Amino acid sequence: MPHPEYERLVRCRDAVAAKTGGFRPRIALVLGSGLGPLAERMDVRYAVPYADVDGMPVSTVPGHAGRYLFGYIGGVPVVCMQGRVHFYEGLPVRDVVLPVRVMGLLGARTLFLTNAAGGVDPAMPTPSLMVIADHILFGVPNPLAGPNIDELGPRFPDMSAVYDPMLRALLLEHGHKMGLPMSEGVYIQMSGPSFETPAEIRMAGLLGAGAVGMSTAVEAVAARHMGLRVCGVSCITNKAAGLEADHTLTHAEVMAAGDAIAARFSALTAAVIPAIDRLTADSREE
Ligand code: HPA
Repeated sequence: MPHPEYERLVRCRDAVAAKTGGFRPRIALVLGSGLGPLAERMDVRYAVPYADVDGMPVSTVPGHAGRYLFGYIGGVPVVCMQGRVHFYEGLPVRDVVLPVRVMGLLGARTLFLTNAAGGVDPAMPTPSLMVIADHILFGVPNPLAGPNIDELGPRFPDMSAVYDPMLRALLLEHGHKMGLPMSEGVYIQMSGPSFETPAEIRMAGLLGAGAVGMSTAVEAVAARHMGLRVCGVSCITNKAAGLEADHTLTHAEVMAAGDAIAARFSALTAAVIPAIDRLTADSREE
């Protein structure tokens, strides 16, 4: 018997494919809070609001438009999530990772994740970009819990190199070449929606985290489960709680810092997508 969640994924995949003329993306992108403008670099052919697809969860956060964009970046066919759903919205993690899984089923072989994050490492400037080297999933259920979806991948998938080392090197190289403030580090996903306490941030620092956010790690796990190549960049929009004296964190601050670096971040993405595509050409099944 097919897994009921697999049947739901296939229904969503087919509904999206019917609206996009069977467009086959090679690379999938997820745009985090305030980073929606990255899509301006894209030659968009189709836009599919999540709300128009039966069975898709819909985002409620301001700054998350909530749609797929299909088109080309530097001639490479891509699908882009402009807006995502989060665990803190009250959805089961299975729903949170559904849009990413659907992009995999549409044919994407590489997933490029972006997010807004707080800098746990006090040396990280804001705004700046952190290439994700690894992650810690903290206080959020693993998206693979429950009966395994055998159609997608194995029960106990390896997670020893979630973020592809070659893609990490490529991102750093392009970022440095473009003069962007770049670093590399570990992303810790916490549940949200409250920002962390200073004690939680001290803990995150002790665990080796460079940045903290409320998305991404669950998506990376679901994507690796189905064999996608994964890379990710955090936009460090603020110093994490307690690192700045007498500072109150707000969503508006996160959005404003995202805006401040969005144009440079999108230039990096536009440059890197064709390079990722060339690098991954060997392992591609057409
Ligand atoms: N914490 C969690 N998520 C975030 C932050 C933060 O400080 N900034 C942007 N997203």
